[in-house]
Amino acid sequence: MVAAADIIRTKTTGFVGRDYVFTAVDKFLEDHDRGFLVLEGDPGAGKTAILAEYIRRTHCVGHFNLRAQGLNTAGHFVKSLSEQFVARYGTHGAGGADGGEAVPRMLSEVRAILPDGIPLVVAVDALDEAEAPPGAANPLYLPGILDKGTYLVLTTRRNETALHVDGPFQKIDLKDFHAETMADVRCHLENRLSQGALARRVEESHLSAGEVVARLSEMSEGNFMYLYYTLIDIARSPGLDLDRFLRELPQGLENYYRMHWQSMGMTAAEAPTVNAWILYVLCEAEAPLPAWIISSILAPVTTRVSPASVQQCLTQWLPFLHRDVSTSPAKYSLYHASFRDFLHRHDVVANAGMDLTNVRAAIAELLWQHMMGDTEDT
Ligand SMILES: Nc1ncnc2c1ncn2[C@@H]1O[C@H](COP(=O)(O)OP(=O)(O)OP(=O)(O)O)[C@@H](O)[C@H]1O
Ligand SMILES: [Mg+2]
Repeated sequence: MVAAADIIRTKTTGFVGRDYVFTAVDKFLEDHDRGFLVLEGDPGAGKTAILAEYIRRTHCVGHFNLRAQGLNTAGHFVKSLSEQFVARYGTHGAGGADGGEAVPRMLSEVRAILPDGIPLVVAVDALDEAEAPPGAANPLYLPGILDKGTYLVLTTRRNETALHVDGPFQKIDLKDFHAETMADVRCHLENRLSQGALARRVEESHLSAGEVVARLSEMSEGNFMYLYYTLIDIARSPGLDLDRFLRELPQGLENYYRMHWQSMGMTAAEAPTVNAWILYVLCEAEAPLPAWIISSILAPVTTRVSPASVQQCLTQWLPFLHRDVSTSPAKYSLYHASFRDFLHRHDVVANAGMDLTNVRAAIAELLWQHMMGDTEDT
């Protein structure tokens, strides 16, 4: 399981820029006696990293929704908030209450013991990944009205979260900071290209670091996730013809996924390939899975699969996956929500010859066998 501390550490290592966002958050807190601040942006724009950095700097209470890891329910939020409040303020926490009741009660309890003038800030990442709430409730049962001195700093993909709130509310859209974002992207690239394997790739090429920065930042369209992937591609390819690589780079994150999708051999077949099945099982699973479970799920579907062949694919796709080594054997999930969204696009599903209903049925079948005691952990 991924702890918030791990997310904060990994997302803030090498973090650059975004001071304009932190300044806007500070100003909101100064200008309003309570309220909701929502940071919006495209997939991979860097929202989670900003929130992680904000939590690291301010030590406020924080929570990360992670759909791919199955950590996105109101129950997870209540538990995480409760643990943090009890540890910091010695309050009662959720005390067995559920989301609709527990969240506002916990916030009010902490607010009541904090001195006036000390804001209570709770930062929550990826409301768009949170489990859909019943009826008209806010995601994670976030209250619509806050006590004086209480602030919620939230992130979500653009236009993907409906919040019903009363009181001060402000949106910060990262796309309104395009020039600033591009400057941050260049700074990030300058840092990364001056070290380790990336610096060696630049040295081996006949390009200057400045030329590489200019080309990569332009093709990224200011998307940090794009840089994450392309820098891995460059770093792990000794002898790479960097000039050609940069000339052939696709523009933007979605085209990047499309290029890899083709090179994974997903688009040619009439029937779905084993690779397509493996990827879509990871896409549809509600939790991280080890190779042997993926292999068991696929056993009724195809004879061309074994734990070893699944493991081989997973190892090959590592840049696109999150590997949880806290368990043995390691468990895998999709690294980033934007890749899952790409896989969900109708044309991509159709090109792969997949039917998501069949994938979900195969997963459900194995779960059913497991409940009946038919599977073995090998
Ligand atoms: N300011 C930054 N400095 C350095 N690295 C960054 C910065 N912002 C983002 N990154 C890195 O870029 C990648 C994508 O960022 P992140 O996961 O925050 O995007 P996101 O907007 O949350 O995407 P999604 O909408 O899919 O959740 C991550 O690997 C992250 O660590
Ligand atoms: Mg995110």
